[in-house]
Amino acid sequence: MSNAQVTFDPKNMPFRRLGPSGLRVPLFSLGSWLTLGGTVVGDPVKEIIKVAFENGINMFDTAEGYAKGRSEIEMGRVIRELGYRRSDLVITTKLFFGTRPGPNDTGLSRKHIIEGTQESIARLGLDYVDVIFAHRPDYSTPMEEIVRAFNYVIEKGWAFYWATSEWSARDIEEAYHVADKLNLIGPIAEQCQHHMLHRERPEKEYAPLYKKYAIGTTVWSALASGLLTGKYNNGVPEKSRLAAHPDFFKETIKNLDGEEGREKIRKIQELTKLAETDLGCSMTQLALAWVARNPNTSTVILGASKPEQVVENLKALEVIPKLTPEILDKIDDILKNKPAPIPSFGRPPLDRFGRT
Ligand SMILES: NC(=O)c1ccc[n+]([C@@H]2O[C@H](COP(=O)([O-])OP(=O)(O)OC[C@H]3O[C@@H](n4cnc5c(N)ncnc54)[C@H](OP(=O)(O)O)[C@@H]3O)[C@@H](O)[C@H]2O)c1
Repeated sequence: MSNAQVTFDPKNMPFRRLGPSGLRVPLFSLGSWLTLGGTVVGDPVKEIIKVAFENGINMFDTAEGYAKGRSEIEMGRVIRELGYRRSDLVITTKLFFGTRPGPNDTGLSRKHIIEGTQESIARLGLDYVDVIFAHRPDYSTPMEEIVRAFNYVIEKGWAFYWATSEWSARDIEEAYHVADKLNLIGPIAEQCQHHMLHRERPEKEYAPLYKKYAIGTTVWSALASGLLTGKYNNGVPEKSRLAAHPDFFKETIKNLDGEEGREKIRKIQELTKLAETDLGCSMTQLALAWVARNPNTSTVILGASKPEQVVENLKALEVIPKLTPEILDKIDDILKNKPAPIPSFGRPPLDRFGRT
């Protein structure tokens, strides 16, 4: 990567700070769960990463557990082959699920955090990652051990920052307090699920964290694995994520036929109408713009099985300014799942994003 020939051009991509840190991340980044190194291997991985990079995406997310390490291997290979400059890129990976089932090959023990980080950067073929995430909380390891281990990884230069994923607000607060007490580095962001059909945790549970610690979010499944594109409105198409992973998505597929699933599809159909008539965009672009419009979102991690999806999805950037308070109200009226605000006991209300 030292003889890099390609320089990054951010094009019209906005950049936001990742939480309280100085790291700037593109509003849309690219992930690899189930896709890169999984259902997508070889040259198509390169095509997807290249089209993302050429359209202003310089942040790529993976995890040790994705395709048992093959996602990191494919991503590292492609980045080397494309000749990108390391300092142009923001690479994030995640530890917890491991690549092997051994008793110390998963979780957040000091042993696995240190060995797992070294194995991840070796698979990626890099000297360091920019952000390393704790992919899940580990209640069988003391928080002090977890914080000390991530601090060590940063001190060693194997990662610049650490962050959490799918931790409760309480767990994140504990990590902050332990880091503060020991004068160590605390987490800067949470990688959370946030989309039109999943709002309670990112919009309500974390609301105090945005305010108190300015944590950032790297949002996953903004399209609910594709449901919010409308592609599952009439069943499961042959070439789709749900069809490719019938066991993993067994419950999701079953629910599509039930009352709850039919209600979700009805809402998606209504939102599609709103997208097309009021905004002149697709349902997919509306769903992505809606997450990106939230000021607590640092980056929306896109998932794509084809380069064309990246191009289509990035048109969401043009939709963001069209999401006026009136349109957001119309969306809330259709969704009917806006979390109740945190009680203010007569104090002036919080803004629509849960901020004072
Ligand atoms: N921290 C965590 O626990 C966690 C969990 C999940 C994901 N993540 C990260 O977040 C990233 C994004 O999550 P995700 O992949 O679930 O995101 P998503 O946007 O909800 O789903 C992506 C999938 O939707 C389909 N799709 C995307 N754009 C489309 C379009 N324009 N038209 C039709 N179908 C389209 C594609 O699947 P098909 O074409 O195959 O149908 C694509 O792979 C992951 O790659 C991963 O890096 C993190």
